[in-house]
Amino acid sequence: MEAIQLSTPPVLSGAMPGIGHLIEFGRNRAGLLQRGLEEVGKVFTVKLGPQNVAVVMGPENHRVFFMETDKKLNIGTSYQFLRAIFGEVFFMAGHDVYLRQKPLITQAFRREKMVHYISVMGREVQEWLDSLDDEGEFEIVETMGWLAQEIAGHALMGDRFQEEIGREFWDLYADLSKSIDPILPPNLPLPKFWRRDRAKERMTQMLMPILEERRAHPEAYNDFLQDFVNARYTDTDEPVEDELLLNMMLGLMFAGHETTAGQAAWNVILLLQHPEYLELVQEEIDRLAPYGQPVDGKLLHALTHMGYAVTETERLRPSADMLMRDVDEEIEVGGYRIPVGWKVQLATELAHRLPELFDEPDYYDPLRFAPGREEDKADRFALVGFGGGMHKCTGMNFANNEISVITTLLLQQFDLELVTRKPHVARSTGANRPSPTIIRYRRKPQLELAVAATPHEAAAGCPHHAA
Ligand code: HEM
Repeated sequence: MEAIQLSTPPVLSGAMPGIGHLIEFGRNRAGLLQRGLEEVGKVFTVKLGPQNVAVVMGPENHRVFFMETDKKLNIGTSYQFLRAIFGEVFFMAGHDVYLRQKPLITQAFRREKMVHYISVMGREVQEWLDSLDDEGEFEIVETMGWLAQEIAGHALMGDRFQEEIGREFWDLYADLSKSIDPILPPNLPLPKFWRRDRAKERMTQMLMPILEERRAHPEAYNDFLQDFVNARYTDTDEPVEDELLLNMMLGLMFAGHETTAGQAAWNVILLLQHPEYLELVQEEIDRLAPYGQPVDGKLLHALTHMGYAVTETERLRPSADMLMRDVDEEIEVGGYRIPVGWKVQLATELAHRLPELFDEPDYYDPLRFAPGREEDKADRFALVGFGGGMHKCTGMNFANNEISVITTLLLQQFDLELVTRKPHVARSTGANRPSPTIIRYRRKPQLELAVAATPHEAAAGCPHHAA
């Protein structure tokens, strides 16, 4: 009997000759994908110019996406636009190179390391809060971007990095971020690519002396960067090359700050938009985390309502809404075949709103993660804001802890009000984030006196200021 030939996924309506869905994708990719789900179902084809892209949703299809990665699906080639910036690191490298690098990265995120990172987060957030007036307004998206840079610079690059070269470094970083372009060849003679190359060169010049100092005096440092500098390949026991070290540091700072800033901003905004749930979180903070209480892993673990809020933010407002793979060998997904040369896209934001997984999925309802409901546990590929399988985000705990620390200390010390009532998702080639959003703040009356009268004493009483 002849085998039945499967067909490729149905093409979503509205493809224009030559360019397919390119214009609609550029203007409103979330709307396009939503239309695909409604009109066709959980697996459909979008045409981006000549490129066929199979969009897949639903845990059974996510499983294929993640489990076939590094087998029939290629993560490296699909993010090759990042390779122009960071070189052959992480998933941008070939699979064998990636496997050699992976232990170097995971060792830096071990549980015992997190204790130090959480204390850095507490200190940086407290410094920001102490710099605020007793009342006023701030724009949360920019502020979270800046704060996430301070935290990433300090936690990953060491105590002195932010003071010594932090700001110049992050200004150059903006040129790297702006050069990200998944469509154009990365070496076209365009000003944004020239700026990228100049920035990379300058950043290398800035970081090289730091590496040299670390290599010369390893005993003087005990932090993330030093672990990296000391690291040796597990197979050859050789030290990691300087160029690779630099690229990995740049890559981690990239992976770690814009994404985290976006979800941190949304976490606060969503809480302010839902006062009933905010009340639960506030009560928990007042009870378990009064001013002066050290912020550590134990406390964050105890703040269960905060934890549910952070997960609900990942579900509703994932910073990474598009995960991509290239098809190296034909695969079958959802009863369709996806041929070699196609791309496969997992749309996290839409996948998180499938009603068979999440009850009333469009509603903000963090208690869906509480015991008795635990909707995220029904399938390990239901919630995929941090990816899944072999390449699941290494910095997930770092990011979630950072979001919790920021939100906890903010709500511990300030009453907040959303001035921009309905921010929307601002999408770009990088991480998603909220559109500019103004927050009005007022220091809690019981703290006003302490902070204004004797900032140093207040700080001394505040363990976040411990050296
Ligand atoms: C809210 C914040 C974050 C989000 C939403 C996020 C999301 C993701 C996602 C979706 C992936 C998998 C990509 C794919 O499968 O195509 C990933 C991978 C990765 N992330 Fe994150 N991330 C965040 C924060 C961080 C932080 C703070 C760091 C480190 C400081 C980090 C480091 C990495 C690394 C190294 C990988 C590659 C893992 C591998 O290939 O083995 N991320 N992230």
